[in-house]
Amino acid sequence: MDIKDHIRGIPDFPKPGILFYDISTLLRHGAAWRTAMARLADVIRPHKPDMLAGIESRGFLVAAPLALELGLGFVMLRKPRKLPGLTIGLNYALEYGTDRIEMQADAVQKGNRVVVLDDLLATGGTLAAGISLLRQAGAEVPCAATLIELSFLGGRKRLDVPFESLVQYD
Ligand code: PRP
Ligand code: MG
Repeated sequence: MDIKDHIRGIPDFPKPGILFYDISTLLRHGAAWRTAMARLADVIRPHKPDMLAGIESRGFLVAAPLALELGLGFVMLRKPRKLPGLTIGLNYALEYGTDRIEMQADAVQKGNRVVVLDDLLATGGTLAAGISLLRQAGAEVPCAATLIELSFLGGRKRLDVPFESLVQYD
């Protein structure tokens, strides 16, 4: 099965000139979604994670089923002010302005191997921030992975961990 057959490119979204790769059609197709998650589990397993982390919001769609598939726990890296209790956070730069992700301070044990997941790698800023935040919490990050990689943006160069993606667009 070719996972690309289930991902649509929607022109001019969210702004003119941007081709948006939409995973909605993949999510709607039970067999293709299951295959995608099983293949991603296969590339993550060799990195021997103790836990997974997913980046809100579309990263949750990937991290939660993978955690079930691998029999692991799952940590939410969330948009600001969403998590209760003591949190730590990291601001990161966007093309215009900044964004912030947060996690619960006690979410990982020191030295835990936590693989961080998102749906898509574009510039790599979001995933790089996720990696830094997990390290701040005491985790080791053996690998980062996404369903889709926009290779032409070179985002993987911003990551200082091995990076895996299921589908690439040049
Ligand atoms: C998208 C995508 C990744 C991020 C990738 O998230 O889901 O998280 O952008 O971009 P980057 O590699 O350039 O940082 P978005 O902010 O659109 O939010 P969502 O996941 O809540 O839909
Ligand atoms: Mg996202």
